[in-house]
Amino acid sequence: MEYDVRSIDLAADGKKRIEWADRNMPVLARIRERFAQERPLAGLRIACCLHVTSETANLVRTLKAGGGEVLLCASNPLSTQDDVAAALVAEYQVPTFAIKGEDNKTYYRHIIAACDHKPHVTMDDGCDLVFTLTRDRADDAANVIGSMEETTTGVMRLRAMEAKGELKFPVVAVNDADCKHLFDNRYGTGQSTLDGIIRATNTLMAGKKVVIAGYGWCGRGTATRARGAGSNVIITEIDPLRAIEAAMDGFLVMPMAEAARVGDLFITVTGNKNVIRREHFEVMKDGAIVCNSGHFNVEVDIPALELLSNNVRKGVRRFVDAYQLTSGRTIYLLAEGRLVNLAAAEGHPAAVMDMSFAVQALTTEWVVRNRDNLDVRVHDVPHEVDEYVAAIKLQTMGIRIDTLTDEQVKYLASSDMGT
Ligand SMILES: NC(=O)c1ccc[n+]([C@@H]2O[C@H](COP(=O)([O-])OP(=O)(O)OC[C@H]3O[C@@H](n4cnc5c(N)ncnc54)[C@H](O)[C@@H]3O)[C@@H](O)[C@H]2O)c1
Repeated sequence: MEYDVRSIDLAADGKKRIEWADRNMPVLARIRERFAQERPLAGLRIACCLHVTSETANLVRTLKAGGGEVLLCASNPLSTQDDVAAALVAEYQVPTFAIKGEDNKTYYRHIIAACDHKPHVTMDDGCDLVFTLTRDRADDAANVIGSMEETTTGVMRLRAMEAKGELKFPVVAVNDADCKHLFDNRYGTGQSTLDGIIRATNTLMAGKKVVIAGYGWCGRGTATRARGAGSNVIITEIDPLRAIEAAMDGFLVMPMAEAARVGDLFITVTGNKNVIRREHFEVMKDGAIVCNSGHFNVEVDIPALELLSNNVRKGVRRFVDAYQLTSGRTIYLLAEGRLVNLAAAEGHPAAVMDMSFAVQALTTEWVVRNRDNLDVRVHDVPHEVDEYVAAIKLQTMGIRIDTLTDEQVKYLASSDMGT
């Protein structure tokens, strides 16, 4: 079996970590049990380009239990848990191509390894695998039955490809399922982004002025968690509706040009580029901390920071680089501007990935079962998948809810409600 991981000797630690995560992934475990009996993915090669974490390992185990021949490569150069990658190879016999801190060349070599697997099904977090297959590997793309996309930025890329007529096979916007973005993007990114910042810096959140760029699902979660930790939160937005929502949720809203002058800690979660750039760095306080939790490392204009500091950068802690500006002030950049929650912490907690990856597993089964009927476009996750995952998650949380009485069913379907 071919693979490329940091060191296979890390496997024992990785296995413990995977098992720890598994304890908090009961919905996925239930699907894994059924998959082991029914083998809905038998005979299919599956290539996953995902963050290589303990939660992903449990998804991969589920796809394998379903009969899939699974290969895994990293979806970000800095998000890999090296011990988990080693355990996947040594303990679960999954060809894995991922090394934390790999350079761009290695990152793309690993994606090519996923293409060489000649997948029938693919899974992406950010669309790099589908993009590479479509652009460079037309023959291999022709074999693909369908593909699942995990994150907002990946779905945006797929919709852009669809609009240009570039899609070669059906894809499913897993990110857009309710059981994914409502919980994973909000509570998962919210908590783990602060976790990454705190682990990297040991900074005190209480009393800090925290500027969050973007009040989407990730931004809402991050803002709420920062407020809960005692920070004064400022939101920047470009969408009037989201800005009103942030204001009515009780946050200060202002343009980045103003926020840059007052903030102590800056977090971007927009999916956009150059959200914090030269004119903002120029007015930031000495000691300001800047980081990103959006998918790509383009939200913070790092080349501008390099220019302003004549490229004088010092690693002062793990995942903290100090840029000494020619003005004399210092700006700290975390995790090289990459997803801070995955680079400096462990990404989302398993309990929330349980829902996202249950959706991934069931959607994969749905794509395989409906392979002859799916047209080449961006599909939504079927509503039954969301309903099933929500119902089982609630059950595993020990929460029961009411059901409609017959009278209520009739009432809700009637037009004479007031009588
Ligand atoms: N760190 C993680 O683990 C993680 C998890 C899920 C999603 N993501 C990524 O986070 C990013 C955001 O995802 P989301 O689900 O919150 O998306 P979203 O579309 O719900 O929200 C993005 C928000 O950013 C705003 N925005 C865009 N450009 C802006 C700018 N220049 N200044 C201020 N605001 C701007 C948009 O108006 C929108 O409200 C994406 O790249 C996504 O892939 C990361």
